[in-house]
Amino acid sequence: MKEIIASDYSIWIGENSLSKLNISSYSKVAILVDENTKKDCLHKLPKIDNSILIEIQSGEEKKNITTCNFIWEQLTKNNFDRNSLLINLGGGVIGDMGGFCASTYKRGIDFIQIPTTLLAMVDASVGGKLGVDFNGLKNQIGIFNYPNSVIINPEFLSTLPENELKSGFAEVVKHTLIADKNLWNKIISTSFNELIWEEIIETSIQIKNKIVESDPFEKGERKKLNFGHTFGHAIESYYLEKGTPILHGEAIALGMMLESDLSDLTVIEKETINIFLYNFFQIPELPPKHEIIDLMKGDKKNKDGKINFSLLNGIGNCSIDNLFLADDL
Ligand SMILES: NC(=O)c1ccc[n+]([C@@H]2O[C@H](COP(=O)([O-])OP(=O)(O)OC[C@H]3O[C@@H](n4cnc5c(N)ncnc54)[C@H](O)[C@@H]3O)[C@@H](O)[C@H]2O)c1
Repeated sequence: MKEIIASDYSIWIGENSLSKLNISSYSKVAILVDENTKKDCLHKLPKIDNSILIEIQSGEEKKNITTCNFIWEQLTKNNFDRNSLLINLGGGVIGDMGGFCASTYKRGIDFIQIPTTLLAMVDASVGGKLGVDFNGLKNQIGIFNYPNSVIINPEFLSTLPENELKSGFAEVVKHTLIADKNLWNKIISTSFNELIWEEIIETSIQIKNKIVESDPFEKGERKKLNFGHTFGHAIESYYLEKGTPILHGEAIALGMMLESDLSDLTVIEKETINIFLYNFFQIPELPPKHEIIDLMKGDKKNKDGKINFSLLNGIGNCSIDNLFLADDL
């Protein structure tokens, strides 16, 4: 089992990591699940006497204040005091929303993240961003706060549908491209089925954690994590608005292809990146340029009317605040 120290909490990774689930000091414990993690993941947790289960429906469309009301109601109804614990067992939706509910219930109770998707393991459960969507805007309401611990058992991935696994893998690819050329070389030369998840997850978290620790509130360095996401978020929003949503990882894969083209890379590096992403991911059709640009104009990272990209300076390096006029794209 590996331990990564992040701010003032630990991230435990490995098959025995659930042994680090320490609940002895709490007056009450609740476990937040959706129907999938109830069916596929709950039985893998050690038995917790007198805990209550809070079940919500899966899906991004349930990541909202109405679901938070339900969670707060369950905690209130069951007399959870400030010495209680919420365990969030699920993907990024459960982690973001459960963490937000715990952080605001009675001005904050402890919570532990047990991520069960690859995306939640390598991305959502690291960095302290918590919240819910509001009026059609993603993560519009939220806070920064840290869990008491994050417990990652790669065994949970065995029941995750392959498209969800691949979607999370896009963030692993991003981490390698912005910060770790060795891991990039490894993943492009290893078949997907032969990747050792424990190693990949650990390295990927180390990369994100190092960046987040150096810039917790996204003033500079943390913007590197946006590589692929300026185009990617616009593409994701375009398909969402059309009523044909695509997976986050698919949008980000296309975003990384487009942003590699704008990056300071050799022709061969651009080709290698594009071929790998194209072959590996289900790349969506590129939406009409003017629609994507209109969507990117609303990106909160923009400065002085220019679109702001985090781009690669060679594989394994990233620069922030590259500003482009929409007409130059
Ligand atoms: N906080 C952050 O820094 C951060 C970073 C990236 C993404 N996010 C957020 O994460 C969310 C996306 O997370 P996600 O991709 O994990 O999606 P998700 O939470 O919706 O999970 C995807 C699906 O997989 C199911 N599932 C989860 N674990 C399973 C398992 N082990 N076996 C079988 N099915 C399982 C879920 O029920 C769901 O249907 C978005 O809301 C996004 O905004 C947050």
